[in-house]
Amino acid sequence: MSDYKIAPSILSANFARLGEEVDAVLAAGADWVHFDVMDNHYVPNLTIGPMVCQALRKHGVEAPIDVHLMVEPVDDMIRMFADAGATYITFHPEASRHVDRSLQLIRSFGCKAGLVFNPATGLDAAKYVMDKLDMILLMSVNPGFGGQKFIPATLDKLREARALIDASGENIRLEIDGGVTQDNIAEIAAAGADTFVAGSAIFNADDYGEVITAMRKSLG
Ligand code: DX5
Ligand code: ZN
Repeated sequence: MSDYKIAPSILSANFARLGEEVDAVLAAGADWVHFDVMDNHYVPNLTIGPMVCQALRKHGVEAPIDVHLMVEPVDDMIRMFADAGATYITFHPEASRHVDRSLQLIRSFGCKAGLVFNPATGLDAAKYVMDKLDMILLMSVNPGFGGQKFIPATLDKLREARALIDASGENIRLEIDGGVTQDNIAEIAAAGADTFVAGSAIFNADDYGEVITAMRKSLG
């Protein structure tokens, strides 16, 4: 598989200059913008909402915006982010009372739909909705904060998710989020991921392009 996507998480960007930061990371070779939405309810942190997504579109960002909802409940935010120009919208299954319906809601707006699994959560919720998924996102840290260490047990889970996707015959991306660096990205890809979120590894570097280039080189 060679269709790898690198999705910098703007959680680690300088929010005082967000438009410039997004421009810079895309110019440095990023494929997508990963957009972390936290509500101080589903996770113990508070970030940005649909207005900021819309502002990035108005600013001229054309790249896919990958909205990761860490909110509960999810349906109102799905509607608002679809309106605000989101490309992918993913949510945690335990944050929706009707997972199948929320997935359908995302696609009804023409967005791509995904489910996110926390480190300790099994993949059961994906099993009967594979035909409604465009992405499965595995958290390799506990959601809520950037800059945490990759949880190694996620590698086995990636292999399990890869097998599930391959057996389904559906076109579903397998994304990994948390603690991804240029040093572990090859191992993560070998376990089955094709889409890589990286926040602190990219935005804490002086030269975004250097890190993204090194990541691509590791991916081969
Ligand atoms: C955590 C977020 C991640 C986070 C990743 O809840 O979903 O996207 O920003 O940051 P790093 O790459 O620093 O682990
Ligand atoms: Zn995320």
